[in-house]
Amino acid sequence: MVDPTSTATAIEFRGLSRHFGATRAVDNVSLAIEAGSVCGFVGPNGAGKTTAMRILSTLDLPTHGDALIDGMSVVLDADRVRPLVGFMPDSYGVYKNVRCHEYLDFFARAYGLVGRERERRVRQIMEFTGVAQIREKQMTALSKGMRQRLCLGRALIHDPKVLILDEPAAGLDPRARRELKDMVGELASQGKTLLISSHILAELAEMVTEICIIEQGRLRAHGRVDEIQRHVAPDQTIRVRLLDDPARLVTWLENRPAILEAQQESDHVRLRVPQGDDAENASLLREMIEQGFQVVEFTVQQKSLEDVFMHVTDGVVQ
Ligand SMILES: Nc1ncnc2c1ncn2[C@@H]1O[C@H](COP(=O)(O)OP(=O)(O)OP(=O)(O)O)[C@@H](O)[C@H]1O
Ligand SMILES: [Mg+2]
Repeated sequence: MVDPTSTATAIEFRGLSRHFGATRAVDNVSLAIEAGSVCGFVGPNGAGKTTAMRILSTLDLPTHGDALIDGMSVVLDADRVRPLVGFMPDSYGVYKNVRCHEYLDFFARAYGLVGRERERRVRQIMEFTGVAQIREKQMTALSKGMRQRLCLGRALIHDPKVLILDEPAAGLDPRARRELKDMVGELASQGKTLLISSHILAELAEMVTEICIIEQGRLRAHGRVDEIQRHVAPDQTIRVRLLDDPARLVTWLENRPAILEAQQESDHVRLRVPQGDDAENASLLREMIEQGFQVVEFTVQQKSLEDVFMHVTDGVVQ
């Protein structure tokens, strides 16, 4: 198991570029992801996510620059990187006449696991991913969700420190998505580092500690969602509901310098304030109560990851 207190860099891009002819699929990206992080990797179609993930997994090479896993170069040290990385691709080949447990056993052998240890590991992974229930099914007979489970099992079979999951939630039903989220949480609590691409942003936001947004191969933003939000959106919205007349609160708010805007909307007041810290919002609430307003609801509305995504990206597909 990985030491969860470690703060070493698990994944690093150093001026990473991958060109396909005139297309700059990944264009001079530099970033570092600390060990133990769960990083969401988002960007429009064609942004370069799969390309970058394939390079991290040593399946492709950069045109320029480098990527490091646990300090080791995917270009110069690919053999030492491979045991450290588990990759779940967005699509994968299906073999005829291969049952689920045989598939996992094959990859366990490929990673050099032998004897009891191999049997134990295959059993453990089948339990963890729910593949145990379909162990005898032929690969060709699997539904999309079952394939995703098997594919995750394959990525985990050698107990890698770093997991690269390319759209693991695509095509999953709501229960399977929740189970995937639980599995990601469990893997993170084991101290693993995860890089997860997804277009299902609301769900991704619930899994990750940070996000990385790329577009047209270029890094647009990287950090905690709230940090990026603070950076891209200069103000925030607070919704206040009172027992008494909202119009009186609007008048009171309009005379305060820190309030950018206050509007009555049916039974509540929506106000815009500069991005600040929670202490400022707390003192505003205290003052409202001291003024005699009967506040029943005071909600600082967080921008969603989807809002942040729309703000940061232009929507150009290359
Ligand atoms: N093997 C290849 N040959 C030529 N061009 C490629 C190749 N692989 C990817 N590209 C191009 O590189 C760019 C990035 O593609 P990539 O698959 O990395 O995007 P993505 O962010 O994973 O998109 P999506 O969200 O649709 O999965 C696209 O313009 C794509 O057409
Ligand atoms: Mg992709």
